[in-house]
Formats: sequence, C-alpha cells, structure tokens
Amino acid sequence: MILGVNVDHVATVRQARRGFEPDPVTAAALAILGGADGITIHLREDRRHAQDRDVRLLRETVPTELNLEMAATKEMVRIAMEIKPDMVTLVPEKRQELTTEGGLDVIGQKRHIKDTVKKLHDSGIPVSLFINPQIIDIDVSKETGADMVEIHTGLYSDSKGKRQKSELLRVIEAVKISEKIGLVANAGHGLNYYNVKQVAAIEGIRGLYIGHSIVSRAVLVGMERAVREMKELIKR
Ligand code: PXP
Repeated sequence: MILGVNVDHVATVRQARRGFEPDPVTAAALAILGGADGITIHLREDRRHAQDRDVRLLRETVPTELNLEMAATKEMVRIAMEIKPDMVTLVPEKRQELTTEGGLDVIGQKRHIKDTVKKLHDSGIPVSLFINPQIIDIDVSKETGADMVEIHTGLYSDSKGKRQKSELLRVIEAVKISEKIGLVANAGHGLNYYNVKQVAAIEGIRGLYIGHSIVSRAVLVGMERAVREMKELIKR
C-alpha cells in the first residue's frame, strides 16, 4: 500500500501571509524522509494554495512519485505537459468550494475527459480520475482511457456508525470493480488517523492519498513523524 502525501495545506498556511514559509517543497522532503511513497500537489486555477513554482521545484526534488492534481483545463494540461509529473489526477474544481467536494462528472464530461487523457498520454503521463464510488463512473472512466481511478472516500470519512459501514462497502465494491475491468484503484479524501485502517485493509487498493490530516498532525508533531505514524497505520 503506497502513501501519497498531499502538501497543499502547507502552502495554505504560507499563503495566509503570502510569504515564503512554510514551504511545501521542504515539507515534501520531510514527508519523504518519513516514508511517503509519493507527493501530491493540487495546482488550482485560483492558485489559492500551491503556486506554479512549487510544482516546478517539486518536479526537481521529489525522488519518488509526483502526482499533479488538476482540473481538466487547457492551462493545466499545458503546465502538466511542460512539467511532466509522474502522474496526473484529474479532479473537478469549483471556485467556491473549500476542498474538492465530489468526484468528476465522468458521464457528463466523458468526451472532454477522454480528450484530456489522450493529450496527457501523448506526453507520456499516466492519468488517474478522481471519482465517486459508483459502478457507472468506473465503467465510464475505463472508456476514457484513464489508467487509474482514485475512489472518493469523502462520504465514508464524513459519516459515522451504520452509514459509515455502508459507505465503506461502496468503496470496497468500487475497488473490486475497478480491478476487474483493468483500472488501478487508489483512494483518498478525508482520511485521517482514526478512519484510515478500514480503507487500508481493502484488498486491491494500490495507494492512499492523504493531505489535511497529515499536515494537521505535522503542525503539532512534525512532518516526518506524522508521515511515519500514518505509514504504520496503513501497513498491511
Ligand atoms: N485526493 C484528491 C483527489 C483530493 O482532491 C484531495 C484533497 O486535495 C485528497 C486526495 C486529499 O484529501 P485530504 O486533504 O482530505 O486528505
């Protein structure tokens, strides 16, 4: 099980003062020392946290997998083609949202996503689609030519008790179906030190992408330790 650490929220703190610290690039280096298998950064259209410079420097300094999260826009595709991350995760993006709130509308945007996947593939970049745990979305993702999916665990993470159990079953089913039709399955969003174990136990998941809870813990205990503690929890 690989752990991709999302360092956006280190940039969020930096952007609160528009200064130079804390630097997400330094945080990424510490995350890797703590055992992160990859680093994720979401370059948003409004540049509210990560900046272009962060992505460029991460490309130069991340020795493991650099995952660029982005909307399927012309500008972002151009940046990805220039920077050549190890993979791109396409996500929906709304200016008003606090974070990525739902999976991609793969059905409504199938053509556009398919074209975007092709452009990225032509540059040699593997593509993952961030989708809700729904069978139809998985089937359509496959039709777009994407290599991977990242199953949205937000509803699982935000619920409790019986509801959480049924949301977990949806994630399990989504992973199973993805595997069956030849899509590599990852998962992420809202995972933390208290809810991650059940997801980490799902057979067939390649990796988990986690940001906010690791950065939150890092504020208190330090990045290396925060990553090490998460790695310990997701170890099979
Ligand atoms: N995966 C995707 C596609 C995301 O958009 C995000 C949030 O940026 C994450 C994972 C990480 O979510 P969290 O910060 O809640 O761990």
